[in-house]
Amino acid sequence: MIIAIDGPAASGKGTLGRLIARHFGLLYLDTGSLYRAVARDVMARQVDIFDINAARLAAQTLDPATLDDPGLRDPGVGEAASIVAGFPEVREALLEFQRQIASSKPGAVIDGRDIGTVVCPDADAKLFVTAKVEIRAGRRFTELSRAGEAVTPEGVLDMIRRRDARDMERAASPLRPAEDAHLLETSDLSIEASFDTAVAWIERKISR
Ligand code: DC
Repeated sequence: MIIAIDGPAASGKGTLGRLIARHFGLLYLDTGSLYRAVARDVMARQVDIFDINAARLAAQTLDPATLDDPGLRDPGVGEAASIVAGFPEVREALLEFQRQIASSKPGAVIDGRDIGTVVCPDADAKLFVTAKVEIRAGRRFTELSRAGEAVTPEGVLDMIRRRDARDMERAASPLRPAEDAHLLETSDLSIEASFDTAVAWIERKISR
């Protein structure tokens, strides 16, 4: 079974994806971490983040063992990730790995921006998780301040707006809901309520 979860930055899709994977006993892949790792590797080489050749090389030589690096959660790495994610060559180089995980036993929950539309168009269930931009920025601000990052609410709101614009307006696999995705608006929902709603919908969908 493959469950695709897409949505904008800080929509809560990661937390939800992990809980759903645990509930159904499936693997979990956060594909944002792949783009973040590519950005980290480009930054480590101290070359321009817009250098397409450096980004393609970083994607082609990415070591999946480094995907749990806590440094990937840095806000600067997230922004740089949304830049390298705009290069079709980078997306192409990361596709095979994502599909391998998707087709592994016993199945997987995969979250990102283009999972239901490009990576796994035949997924058994597709969710598109959203929340108002102010709510997402508030959640990300809390998470970053707890992690000791020196951030302000206005700075985080600006950052999320820039990320949304880049992720939605790029030509290569832009963020958009798949036609058969179920829209989950979590602005007024707790994690528990979002999880219950998502599981109920997935169970209905896979029993059809
Ligand atoms: O989900 P995240 O915030 O960790 O993702 C970081 C960036 O990676 C995001 O701004 C866009 C990019 N991304 C993408 O283009 N496609 C994906 N499937 C996942 C992430």
